[in-house]
Amino acid sequence: MTNATATAARRTSLHGFWSSRMTFILAVSGSAIGLGDIWKFPYITGQNGGGAFVIVYLLCVFLIGLPIMISEILIGRRGRRNPVTTMGLLGEEEGGVRHWRLVGVMGIFTGFIILSFYSVIAGWTLAYILHAARGEFTGGDATRIGEVFATITGTWWRSAAWHTLFMIMTVFVVARGVQRGLGQAVRILMPTLFALLIVLLGYSMASGQFAAGVDYMFRADFSALSGNSVLIALGHSFFTLSVGICAVMAYAAYLPQSTSIMSTAGTVVVADTIVSLTVGLIIFPIVFANGLAPDAGPGLIFRTLPLAFGNMPAGAFFGALFFIVLAFAAWTSAISLIEPAVAWAVERRGLTRVKAATGIGVVVWALGFATVLSFNELDHVQFLRGSIFDNIDYLASNILLPLGGLLITIFAGWVICRNASADELDVGTSLAYRSWHFLTRFIAPVAVILIFLHAIGVFTL
Ligand code: TRP
Repeated sequence: MTNATATAARRTSLHGFWSSRMTFILAVSGSAIGLGDIWKFPYITGQNGGGAFVIVYLLCVFLIGLPIMISEILIGRRGRRNPVTTMGLLGEEEGGVRHWRLVGVMGIFTGFIILSFYSVIAGWTLAYILHAARGEFTGGDATRIGEVFATITGTWWRSAAWHTLFMIMTVFVVARGVQRGLGQAVRILMPTLFALLIVLLGYSMASGQFAAGVDYMFRADFSALSGNSVLIALGHSFFTLSVGICAVMAYAAYLPQSTSIMSTAGTVVVADTIVSLTVGLIIFPIVFANGLAPDAGPGLIFRTLPLAFGNMPAGAFFGALFFIVLAFAAWTSAISLIEPAVAWAVERRGLTRVKAATGIGVVVWALGFATVLSFNELDHVQFLRGSIFDNIDYLASNILLPLGGLLITIFAGWVICRNASADELDVGTSLAYRSWHFLTRFIAPVAVILIFLHAIGVFTL
């Protein structure tokens, strides 16, 4: 199975292991499945015209995102440290260059930025649990639902209070250590989420304009797709899979040696994609049946889903349950956004997990105010990509994530030697290995670079 040098390079985990392969799959799925699938995917699909965008997104997920996820897991398990140390260690070992640690540092910062807005949106989700449970959506009146949304997001202190609560929840779990409790939570959460999505899908098929929704999501008109939309699809494929900031790498440091990396990554990617597509098939039929606009922006699901709950039997119950599950899904994702930073602070700076998580949490919380305010006091500030929030999201999701992903594939494909990657993936020189290696060395980096150049207008197709 292994050769002597490869075995010598193996390290043991500093913080114990995931209790099983299943726990790791659950933790990574918990990280991947979140607001990206349920909140972001529908609204950016709507803003970028539907079908063609969805197809580019799917190609990016399977040809670029999946190989990067495999790379992150293999690097993480081989290094067995926090991402900064791991990248430095392997960089030195494999290529004689310690500076690869900067990829980990960049990942930590990108994670901060993403979490800063992620937590604000997750806060809205928390608020919606109450509004749904109080039966405020009953009857499904679009104007009234729009008012609820406007009240939560339009009053800065309300939005800030929910954001604060969500950050406290996140810091709490990270301070205790991610292996504890996370597996258990995800085990209950995921099946409930799937069940609720099926209920909603049933509603959408029965009462929405289902055919129009399917048509919108899958009828591709590539002529309408801009270079910038392609970059957004690429960025989102990374966002939704949680790759590009070494978060999956941080989780993989605790992965038992015997687990198959490829099948694990494949399972997570397929599960995440199914969730996203299902959500799209739920949202767009409701949008069209109620005369709403698919390009309504970040409020899209907060304006459409309550219509569904408001019109179905026991809607207050299903609605509250849905937003509880969504908040949980956001929670298990948020944790992975600061785990790399916390693992680094604990290993390198000798802080306790509690101190590290709290300190980092305060910084991210403060950054979150930029997003909070961009939906109320500062909503008139519009530049480059739109609001302050739009710009923060664009920078993190569409520039920093692809850049991080690019460096990770170059590292896994070109710096780490074949012996080491084949040993870690443990599938010999099978077709699976060769496909991964080819995608990682050539397709993924070249595609990311071309998409960047295309988006900034260096060439047009
Ligand atoms: N993937 C999560 C979602 O779809 C968000 C997320 C969690 C993330 N960890 C990440 C995005 C790391 C990028 C990098 O909601």
